[in-house]
Amino acid sequence: MFAGDVRAVDNLDLQINDKEFMVLVGPSGCGKTTALRMIAGLEEATDGDMLIGDTRVNDVPPKDRDIAMVFQNYALYPHMTVYDNIAFGLRLRELGGFFWQISHPAEAKKIKTSIDERTRATAKMLDIEHLLHRRPKELSGGQRQRVALGRAIVRQPKVFLMDEPLSNLDAKLRIQTRAELIRLHRDLGITTIYVTHDQVEAMTMGQRIAVMKDGVLQQCDTPEKVYNQPANKFVAGFIGAPPMNFIPAKVSGGKVEAGAFTLPIPSGHPAAALEGKSLFLGIRPEDIYDAAMNNPIPTTDENTIKAKVDVLEPLGHQYIAYLKAGDHAFLASIDAGSKLKIDDESNFTINLDQLHFFDAETEQAIR
Ligand SMILES: Nc1ncnc2c1ncn2[C@@H]1O[C@H](COP(=O)(O)OP(=O)(O)OP(=O)(O)O)[C@@H](O)[C@H]1O
Ligand SMILES: [Mg+2]
Repeated sequence: MFAGDVRAVDNLDLQINDKEFMVLVGPSGCGKTTALRMIAGLEEATDGDMLIGDTRVNDVPPKDRDIAMVFQNYALYPHMTVYDNIAFGLRLRELGGFFWQISHPAEAKKIKTSIDERTRATAKMLDIEHLLHRRPKELSGGQRQRVALGRAIVRQPKVFLMDEPLSNLDAKLRIQTRAELIRLHRDLGITTIYVTHDQVEAMTMGQRIAVMKDGVLQQCDTPEKVYNQPANKFVAGFIGAPPMNFIPAKVSGGKVEAGAFTLPIPSGHPAAALEGKSLFLGIRPEDIYDAAMNNPIPTTDENTIKAKVDVLEPLGHQYIAYLKAGDHAFLASIDAGSKLKIDDESNFTINLDQLHFFDAETEQAIR
């Protein structure tokens, strides 16, 4: 709770397993950074318990939590070289002061050698070995980001907290660094909490994903579960690109009526029994096929709807088709090779097994 009654994070109840890679994802301002800062001890939780292992850490100062954090706005020491930026924390932690070093020359030397080895190994891992002598201002944004990562990695802490560590990288470097971080986690096995607003990063990196909105946890599960069984309309719309289509509809006689079209509700689905209920029908763009193509879903009378093509965006391997059926506008991901034409009325096959239904009032998934 911040001054002015700002409840940035509300009753976040989250258990992160040992060695797990957990991603916190949500739109800007939903409380991701605040949640991380509380775990790091930089922000005090107004209420509740925070445990690392079996230890309650609410009152443990940040430096004693054995946590390394990579900040959203990482701050490197501008006057230090890359090497010193990485090694600095280790020296501070492991070496005694000047007088201790003089009185314990052998020990000090051993520690210095070990710090040097770890610093170089970390730089090698992040491919910044050749930059060790430079200062931050002589680096690109992406290289600086790696140094910030290096500073955290070199410590081999119990927990990594990363707040949008890839946000300053260009698209290509982001994908590359994403893969490196996944490998790094596999190699080091350090529990990691990774914050991002990018659902692709969340899906590709997280062993589990915690989706937040307005400080409230919406769902926490594996990427597959969050994608296939979103808990509510918000999660369904947030995870997946292009986003899921939501069409206001009504249940009638075991079917879902959306005005311009009617689709059968798969047998046994609880939505089928909610006669007369208003709901949102959710269809992912990737579950809509050009019926004229050879699709994994055979076209039948029941699973096919008519729609007009408004816009076709070619992406190379596929098109994003902006479709219109009656008053409803929605998106479809159509394989390249489709002969769809703008303004044509065409048939589209829907994968009925992947229909989603959300309560019109509560927006909770019906399943
Ligand atoms: N020190 C503060 N005092 C008051 N309100 C704050 C403070 N820090 C953050 N907030 C508010 O708390 C909410 C959550 O902020 P937070 O920085 O955790 O969001 P975020 O999910 O990290 O967003 P982003 O993706 O933009 O980084 C926001 O509404 C923000 O304005
Ligand atoms: Mg943030």
